[in-house]
Amino acid sequence: MPQLLHLDSSADLETSVSRAVTARFSDVWHSLGADHSVIYRDLHRNPPPHLPTSALHWAPHLRTPGEIAPPEAEALQKELIDELVSADVVLVGAPMYNWSIPSTLKAWIDYVHVPGITVPFDGPTRPVEAKPVVVVSSRGNQYGPGTPDFGADHTVAQLEQVLGTALGMQVFVVTIDLTLASRVPALASSIPAAEASLAEAHLAVTDLAQRLGAGTGSPQPR
Ligand SMILES: Cc1cc2nc3c(=O)[nH]c(=O)nc-3n(C[C@H](O)[C@H](O)[C@H](O)COP(=O)(O)O)c2cc1C
Repeated sequence: MPQLLHLDSSADLETSVSRAVTARFSDVWHSLGADHSVIYRDLHRNPPPHLPTSALHWAPHLRTPGEIAPPEAEALQKELIDELVSADVVLVGAPMYNWSIPSTLKAWIDYVHVPGITVPFDGPTRPVEAKPVVVVSSRGNQYGPGTPDFGADHTVAQLEQVLGTALGMQVFVVTIDLTLASRVPALASSIPAAEASLAEAHLAVTDLAQRLGAGTGSPQPR
């Protein structure tokens, strides 16, 4: 029974672009059959608290004697990691906030990136290795090669580092640029490019959901 873990983190509950694009992925996933289930976690409506203690960064057997974690925080960490491990595919809505990711998504990462549990430390532990994760990155401006702000995107590289390099997941990135083109006068000339970027993103997630949901094909990660 293929299971999707769908995370959203936009603070915009009305016009969010990342929410619209992840919803498209999720709709296609559902359309593949009644056996295609979705676990949905809205990190904005239901944000994980900041880590109450650095002890949670370590698997219990790697903690020093003084490192004690509150039981409720340990329970939340176990719940979040269990969701991640049990999913066949993970979908992350990741809007750009101040050149980085929303703090709610960062908090989720802080709970699930745990040496000795999800990343190797004293052994080869890597339960989500090779699991596909689709990152949907929406941004008001554009950051591609040749643009004035090239290099200022601190969202995608961070997610590739944590999810790909550290956790070993297979990362697919779908970006939507220039989402503020119709709102910011200085970007008005980019409205056609913004519309094209959004249309491309919808096509990309439709294709990814079909291929990853069918469990066939080997789309190349970005
Ligand atoms: C708190 C906040 C910070 C933002 N910072 C940036 C930024 O640094 N660079 C940028 O290009 N857009 C920035 N934006 C614009 C968003 O990236 C853009 O509106 C995007 O579409 C948000 O995703 P969403 O539509 O899914 O909510 C910011 C928006 C907010 C609300």
